[in-house]
Amino acid sequence: MKTEEKTFKRSPTFTPVVRFFHWVRAFSIFFLIFSGFYIAYPFFAPEPNGEPTNFLYALFRSWHIMVGFLLISVSIFRLYLFLVSGRNKNERMSASDLFNKDIWIGQIKNYLFLGPHPHIKGVYNPIQFCSYFLLAILVLIISLTGIVLYYNVYHNGLGAFLQSAFKWFEVALGGLANVRKLHHITTWAIMIFIPIHVYMVVWNAIKHPDGGADSIIGGFRYQET
Ligand code: HEM
Repeated sequence: MKTEEKTFKRSPTFTPVVRFFHWVRAFSIFFLIFSGFYIAYPFFAPEPNGEPTNFLYALFRSWHIMVGFLLISVSIFRLYLFLVSGRNKNERMSASDLFNKDIWIGQIKNYLFLGPHPHIKGVYNPIQFCSYFLLAILVLIISLTGIVLYYNVYHNGLGAFLQSAFKWFEVALGGLANVRKLHHITTWAIMIFIPIHVYMVVWNAIKHPDGGADSIIGGFRYQET
């Protein structure tokens, strides 16, 4: 294979904490989908025995709740970083491209193989920005519905506090059955997002190698000079 020599400009794209949170959220979402489907339909069960040790369902449930609260806490901190962190200014700058119609058209053409990548101010193009915003809304919905499901089982301590803070959401949805249904439907919406997200990342990494999928691992983007 022929070796070429090229020079690249290295620009910082994602800070270490943002990268860490991305992977914590990714793994917790995968785990929550798996354990959530188990809660909805326990598709395997331990061999029955006489000992009181076969609480697999309870185990799945408690892990689901713990990882659920992990997702909530990391997402709140991630939102804080997006809104106020000086080192994540490039993310906030992406919002200004949302109002630039030329960038929208340029990006659609680029996705359709009809033109080059438009020059964007921040790290996300407008279509990407909207899809991540939609994911944030889905995480908000699944978190609120998860909290309602949680406090309806655990009535003391944190459960009591969450009930007083989020009862309005349960009432607004018309009761617990609808909350459960929405939690389940949102799971499917997130499951539709994941393959599209992975496909787009791989597509971008192949079409624009300097954009790179590895920026969410290494933190840098390499642009040819
Ligand atoms: C990506 C995130 C999440 C996914 C994919 C997910 C998925 C699911 C699914 C599919 C179910 C079963 C619903 C059914 O019965 O049909 C479930 C139940 C539940 N989830 Fe989640 N969930 C997520 C986040 C959360 C969060 C953040 C919490 C809050 C702590 C939470 C708490 C619960 C609780 C308490 C139940 C009900 C357990 C029971 O019925 O005893 N979930 N989840």
